Amino acid sequence: MLILGIESSCDETGVALYDSEKGLLGHKLHSQINLHAHYGGVVPELASRDHIRYIIPLIQELLKSCDSSLSKLDSIAYTSGPGLSGALLVGSSVAEALACSLNIPSIPIHHLEGHLLAPMLDKNKPDFPFIALLVSGGHSQLIHVREVGNYEILGDTLDDAAGEAFDKTAQLLGLSYPGGPALSLLAEKGKDKFNLPRPLINSHGLDFSFSGLKTAVLTLVKKQPKLTESIKSDIAFAFQESVTDVLVKKSLQALKQTNLKRIVISGGVGANKKLREKLTLSCENNGFKSFFPSLEFCTDNGAMIALAGAMRYHLSAKTDYKFLTKPRWRLSEINSST
Ligand code: KG4
Ligand code: ZN
Repeated sequence: MLILGIESSCDETGVALYDSEKGLLGHKLHSQINLHAHYGGVVPELASRDHIRYIIPLIQELLKSCDSSLSKLDSIAYTSGPGLSGALLVGSSVAEALACSLNIPSIPIHHLEGHLLAPMLDKNKPDFPFIALLVSGGHSQLIHVREVGNYEILGDTLDDAAGEAFDKTAQLLGLSYPGGPALSLLAEKGKDKFNLPRPLINSHGLDFSFSGLKTAVLTLVKKQPKLTESIKSDIAFAFQESVTDVLVKKSLQALKQTNLKRIVISGGVGANKKLREKLTLSCENNGFKSFFPSLEFCTDNGAMIALAGAMRYHLSAKTDYKFLTKPRWRLSEINSST
C-alpha cells in the first residue's frame, strides 16, 4: 500500500511517501523558521499562509523525486490535530480534496501518535509494548504504548512542556527562535558552575513541571553583574543538565513501574544530544533498551504521519472526505475515536 503523508500542524510543511512493504520512499520538508524568527515565536496566520504556498509544490516535488504519481496512491494520511487550527486546515483540506478526487480513503492522524511511532521508520524498530517519552514544544509525556492506538498516559506536564522551557530559557539568554537547538549548542561550551533545581525529581508520580526552572534561570540571570557569553553558556549548561536529569530519572521510573524493557524517545527535544547520551547510558546500565528516531524525524515531518497512516489504516481510513481538524485533540482520546 502506498501512502502520502502530510504534516502541517505548526511551522513545518512536511510530506512523505511510505510503502507498507518497502518502507519510506522519500520525504520533503519546508521549515518556516526564518519566517517566524523575527517575531520570536510562531505567528499562526503567517504559518497558515505559508503552508498554502508550499504544500502543493512540495507534493509535486516529492512524487517526482520518488518517480511516482498521484494515480499510484492508495491513501492519504494527514495531521488532523492537535495544532494551530488554520495550519491544520490547510493539510486537512488538501488531503481530503486530493483523496476525494482520486477516490481513495483518507486517514486523519494524531500528531503525537506520529511522533511516538517515528522510531519505527528506522531499521532497528522497537517491538510493542514500550514506554514513549514524548518531549516536544507543547508536550512532555510518558506513555505506556501497548500497541497502535492503545496508549496510557502515565505522566504529563503540569505547566510548561520541556521544549517550551528550552525556548523560553533561550529567549531569556537572548538566543533566537526556536531556542532549543541554539541553547543546546551554547550549553556545549558551558562549564558546570551553577546548580539549578530539578523539579519533581524525587516525587513518586511521573508528572513534569518546568515553569519553576524558568523562574530560577531568570533569578540567576538577574544576579549576574554582567551577562557575558561565558556566563550565558554556563547557565545554558546548568539548565540542560537539570531538564535532562529530570527526563532521564522519570523515564527510568516509568520503565521500572511498568516492568517494560524498551523506551522510545520522540518529539523535538528528543534531538537533544545530552538527553540522548544520558538516556542511552542510563538504559544500558539498568538493562533497558532505548530507541531514538533519526534526528531529522525527531522534529515535525511528513514521514512520521505517512508511517502512522500505514499503521492505522485498518482503524481510521475513511471515505466521507469531511475535513477533520481537532486543534485540541488529546492523545488519550484516540483509543476510541479516529
Ligand atoms: O516536535 P517539535 O518539532 O514540534 C512540536 O510538535 O512541538 O518540537 C519542537 C520543540 C521546540 O521547543 C524546540 O526548541 C525543541 O523541540 N528542540 C530542541 C532541540 N531541537 C528541537 N530542544 C532541545 N534540544 C534540541 N536539540
Ligand atoms: Zn511535533
